[in-house]
Amino acid sequence: MKREENELLTQVGKGTPMGEVMRRYWHPICTSAELPTPDCDPLRTRLLGETFVVFRDSHGRVGVIDELCMHRGASMALGRVEDGGIRCIYHGWKFAVDGRIMETPNHEDPRLRQRLKAPCYPVHESAGLVWTYIGPAEHQPPFRRFGFEDVPDANRVVLRINVNANYLQCWEGGTDTSHVTMLHSNVARPNWALGNGKAASGVADDMLVEAFNDTAPKLEIEDTSFGFHYAGIRTAPGEEGSRRNVRIVPIFLPGGRIIPFRDFSTWVFETPQDDEHTSTYMIDASATMPLSRQARLKRSGLIEERFYKDNNFRASWDDRLGQNRDAMRKQQNWTGFSGISQEDAIISTSMGPVYDRTREHLVAADAAIVRLRRRLLDAVRLVEAGKTPPAAMVADMTRMQGFDTDWDITQRWQDIAPEHRMHFALEKEPA
Ligand code: FES
Ligand SMILES: [Fe+2]
Repeated sequence: MKREENELLTQVGKGTPMGEVMRRYWHPICTSAELPTPDCDPLRTRLLGETFVVFRDSHGRVGVIDELCMHRGASMALGRVEDGGIRCIYHGWKFAVDGRIMETPNHEDPRLRQRLKAPCYPVHESAGLVWTYIGPAEHQPPFRRFGFEDVPDANRVVLRINVNANYLQCWEGGTDTSHVTMLHSNVARPNWALGNGKAASGVADDMLVEAFNDTAPKLEIEDTSFGFHYAGIRTAPGEEGSRRNVRIVPIFLPGGRIIPFRDFSTWVFETPQDDEHTSTYMIDASATMPLSRQARLKRSGLIEERFYKDNNFRASWDDRLGQNRDAMRKQQNWTGFSGISQEDAIISTSMGPVYDRTREHLVAADAAIVRLRRRLLDAVRLVEAGKTPPAAMVADMTRMQGFDTDWDITQRWQDIAPEHRMHFALEKEPA
């Protein structure tokens, strides 16, 4: 990859080509849990290289405003949230969630308040997430529903993980199925140290299939209107003839994927804070059973506060990113890390803030990563040509699903996800 292409794909600030693509979608800006009560402390947070203040007013409504006060630029993150708005502590100007100027104590003439409006953004709060749209008003798309909103609250776990790395290396990691058997050996192949290639019964986590012992999954990829989907095809122990395990994973703009499990799915949104920081939002939702946040944190390796606290994932080279070399030497732990999310966040961090793709050596197993980059470049071209980026206008995204299932290779894997063909077929190649 050329340096210019790497920059094109990784830079998301206002006015950059990828930044303009990203600004055509709604993004999560925080979790509802970060604004727990009316008039709670405001949140200062970044999205696509810009800084915003998010607050919940006395009525429980959420507002997203530019960080710096429109009067003379004090940070509204220091503001007082009271009586239906947020008040700047510098001269006391007060704003409502819709940008209305409620009070200007140092300026009596009310015409100023009527004439001006504070820079604020549309907000949609549902299923434990606060979403906003910061792109051009004339292109504001409908809010998109994904399906995790529809399950009972007890059947859903929402996580935000702030990682010190560019969004694309996080997203490429999530698109790359071949690392699972290696990086996540501790969970995916729990008796790797025995070298017998079989999952020890009772050791494998409930979310994993024995098929992960197949270290060379076949990969088939097809473009869709949301991006693409791929089938990771694995032979499970004891499977014979034409039976295989297949995992169909949708990869969708901007930053999304669905990880399928047997009893639930995880929707992931790799949301750029800026070029060097990403908020990974993960929503586990099950149609059939309650899910436990504690169990999820434990399974993901996020229970350890030295790595994960207040939504922030932290690791430093002072102690080799926290790697446990002793456990590796004793063959107790393959990576010296534990838990899938911990391992993924460590790898993204280890690549540096913005990974330099000019030096890599891709192989056939990296086909989905190549496809992701190509589809992102397609999206840049679409927006530059004045067109709509992939599936930005589709309000009902619930028909996009992931599957983890047994399957017969004499059938078409696309038929496991017929709704993708019906609703997300790629009509024609982008120009
Ligand atoms: S800077 Fe905010 S009121 Fe003056
Ligand atoms: Fe991973």
